[in-house]
Amino acid sequence: MGFRFPDGFRWGTATSAYQVEGNNIASDWWLWERQPGTILDGSRSGLACDWWRSAERDFDRMVGLHQNAARLSIEWSRLEPREGQWDQAAEARYLEMLRGLRERGMEPLVTLNHFTLPQWVADRGGWLWDGIVPAFARYAAQMVRAASTSVDLWTTLNEPVGHLFAAYVLGRFAPGRTSPLGFLRALLHSVRAHEAAYHAIHDVQPTARVSIAAYLRPFQPANPDSWLDRLLALRLDHLVNWMYLDALVTGRLAGPFGLRAHVRTAVPTLDFLGVNYYTRSRVAFDIRRPRYLFTRPELAPGAAVSDATDSEIFPDGMLAVLRRARRYGLPIYITENGLPDADDDLRPGFIVEHLRRVAQAIDEGCPVRGYYHWSIVDNFEWADGWTLRFGLHALDPSTQIRVARSSAALYGEICRDNALPEGTVPSGLPEVS
Ligand code: FCB
Repeated sequence: MGFRFPDGFRWGTATSAYQVEGNNIASDWWLWERQPGTILDGSRSGLACDWWRSAERDFDRMVGLHQNAARLSIEWSRLEPREGQWDQAAEARYLEMLRGLRERGMEPLVTLNHFTLPQWVADRGGWLWDGIVPAFARYAAQMVRAASTSVDLWTTLNEPVGHLFAAYVLGRFAPGRTSPLGFLRALLHSVRAHEAAYHAIHDVQPTARVSIAAYLRPFQPANPDSWLDRLLALRLDHLVNWMYLDALVTGRLAGPFGLRAHVRTAVPTLDFLGVNYYTRSRVAFDIRRPRYLFTRPELAPGAAVSDATDSEIFPDGMLAVLRRARRYGLPIYITENGLPDADDDLRPGFIVEHLRRVAQAIDEGCPVRGYYHWSIVDNFEWADGWTLRFGLHALDPSTQIRVARSSAALYGEICRDNALPEGTVPSGLPEVS
């Protein structure tokens, strides 16, 4: 057997509510995905993976893979479809799902906001609305009150920086704005919403461990001899990776364009760190792309790519971000890592090579406590619709039939053994350098 992970290491898969539940009709994305041009293939989330009615079928698959953990999210719009009206039946269904995980021996890690908002919040301005801060904290407290006996690990927000950039600068995600000032305002509200929710959760459940799931990616200059490329990579590294986390730890947000703000408390509001790792960015300065912060991404020559052909498979980046994430001295959970690969020729190697970097980080003393592969089953991939297939199981959304990809069995062995397989040499991917 290869590297053994520490006892008690959490092995899971990750999902988000909107992407798997189906029929989230009170969510802002339900209207958004119906607007022309928002979803690449014009598809709809529809029934998604039908989790609202039968998530348990996929929970059984997770157990079949020997997972001892699972990450999922709660759809705020189901619990509070109209302002101030709490849906008891929706709460009961979520509690049933959480119990279902526990009964199967899986510890839930629960995200309270994974990109979507209730339509009534969107109607008031979404992340631009001042009232979102208390409204989010109220929702968080109420959900945590209901679920505190089933859940210890909470993340308030998923990838806030990237999400708000896509929503308020690029116009790719709901509500489709293209305003840098709007982005900064939304960002500030999001930091405050996290902080308010952090304290609200701890008031209800003092032993809770609370964080965000942060998207971390190395930025490298496309041309290391260009000072502009180097400067750009440095600025993006701060903006995308560390600015937000630093704010939660120091209480000060030091953003772009001179944005300086004191956020609510100087008390660190992270009990652990959730890390989503997918890829790296090699960036070149390009004056014609202001909306992209003057950045033109460039793939490395000969880069391995998945079905998302602009996204490099770069296992060394996992080690790089873990080494840097150690700066906060917090336990780390890899809350997402995966790739779109419908024919599954790269996924087995991807899993093993990324886990080898995790193993190396642990060997170096980095406190990684768990890994959640994205995802157990193909699901609705936001603006990319059903074009990208991230599942260990393939899904035909029209029949709801699942077929295990061969990487499911490999991941299952790793979860079962709490170890990497001996001598697996994956196809075509770089090895630990
Ligand atoms: C992450 C998102 C997740 C999913 C994966 C593929 O950035 O958090 O919802 O879309 O990418």
